[in-house]
Amino acid sequence: MDSRMMGDDLHSVLVTAQQIDERLTELAAAIDADYAGREILLVGVLKGAVMVMADLSRKLASDVRMDWMAVSSYGSGTKSSGVVRIVKDLDTDLTGRDVLIVEDIVDSGLTLSWLVANLRSRGPASVEIAALMRKPSEAKVHVDVKYCGFDIPGEFVIGYGLDYAERYRTLPFVGTLAPHVYA
Ligand code: PRP
Repeated sequence: MDSRMMGDDLHSVLVTAQQIDERLTELAAAIDADYAGREILLVGVLKGAVMVMADLSRKLASDVRMDWMAVSSYGSGTKSSGVVRIVKDLDTDLTGRDVLIVEDIVDSGLTLSWLVANLRSRGPASVEIAALMRKPSEAKVHVDVKYCGFDIPGEFVIGYGLDYAERYRTLPFVGTLAPHVYA
């Protein structure tokens, strides 16, 4: 999918495919330096993180393993409530593992705050977060994102894994939707 297929549904491009690629290269270098000589367990949070996981993981020189979780946030509409249910749990025992959670976006921070606490309770050596984007204006709880791609405004964004009603995840860039799409 590209921007031409969106017609006037696309309002603006916030982060280009090239910017994403360059920033992920920088983050991968930082991760490789920090985890030198250690094996990393990358934990992707479905579904939004699939693109970041695919691209970031392939830029890493480190020895990595990959696992996935799916969580569901109770609450109304598109906003997190902080009450999270595990839909698909990890297959991996975290005891002694260096865990790096890979996310597309930290919005209120409620999902990741819950997830970090949950994974830390399983006896890992460490738990850190890599997120492509963060919305500082929307934060309800502090989440320590060690590897953050971009701080973005508090607008609803789509593309590069992020959806609106399950559409637009395969856009190569991150953009905002025209208001008439929501109407
Ligand atoms: C998004 C994103 C994070 C969460 C962030 O997932 O991938 O997991 O919301 O929001 P928060 O910081 O306010 O908790 P979403 O629930 O849209 O599911 P998806 O990844 O399957 O699209």
